Amino acid sequence: MRKIFIIGIGAGDPDYMTIQGIKALNAVDVFFMPDKGADKDGLQKLRRDICARFIEKATYRFAEMRMPERDIRELPDYKDNIDKWRAAVTASYERFIAEELTDGQCGAFLVWGDPAIYDGTMRILDEILAKDSLAFDYEVIPGIGAVQALAARHRVPLNRIGESVQITTGRKLEAGWPQDAENLVVMLDGRQAYERVVETDVEIFWGAYVGTEDEILIAGPLADVAEKITAARETARQTHGWIMDSYLLRKREAN
Ligand SMILES: C[S@@+](CC[C@H](N)C(=O)[O-])C[C@H]1O[C@@H](n2cnc3c(N)ncnc32)[C@H](O)[C@@H]1O
Repeated sequence: MRKIFIIGIGAGDPDYMTIQGIKALNAVDVFFMPDKGADKDGLQKLRRDICARFIEKATYRFAEMRMPERDIRELPDYKDNIDKWRAAVTASYERFIAEELTDGQCGAFLVWGDPAIYDGTMRILDEILAKDSLAFDYEVIPGIGAVQALAARHRVPLNRIGESVQITTGRKLEAGWPQDAENLVVMLDGRQAYERVVETDVEIFWGAYVGTEDEILIAGPLADVAEKITAARETARQTHGWIMDSYLLRKREAN
């Protein structure tokens, strides 16, 4: 039987690797390296650095995998196009695993942050297993995701006593503040959705490249710091060519 690990490698700092993750790394023969296009060179480098640092025997290899292009302009219906693209991704993962991993070997996907947060690897492997054409067993190793890293670096709990936390995307936030939500963690926001929040008395805890040497943290009342965050994003994007940032939005407690 083939065995596959989905290993959460943390959201930037190699020290985020867990002992469970390191044990799994050391059992791997083949590391699958999907090239997602949006995945930046620096992120791939971190994966290789983690292997070099934490694996004791250099008997493993990397298998690089080109992913199908995602052209959302191709079809007028966004959902149809996403479904089509996902099916192509699943098919290419299946081919890749079948070709690169022999029976009895162990493979791994090194997932940025935690595999349970905005990552499609589990879903893709489940889709392959459901087709019943390729047999393997898989195990998920949790990692320190951007959500936990952001909270730790700002030294702020995600919720106050008894409150809920909602993790969402910039695209969803643009549709308005979710009903009854008290604390929102916003990820995947390429369009600065925080600028269009109409609620007053909101605090923001923003972080870019959290856990890396390029980390930037800004916090304060949203109305006061929104422009500063937008300027920092713009400068960072120009400097690095890309940005990964997340933020916690919280309604301030009524006195
Ligand atoms: C595709 S999601 C992957 C999330 C990942 N599985 C996790 O647990 O962090 C990518 C988003 O995660 C967030 N992110 C990942 N790493 C980050 C970091 N070091 N600093 C700030 N945000 C980060 C950003 O919102 C980015 O758009």
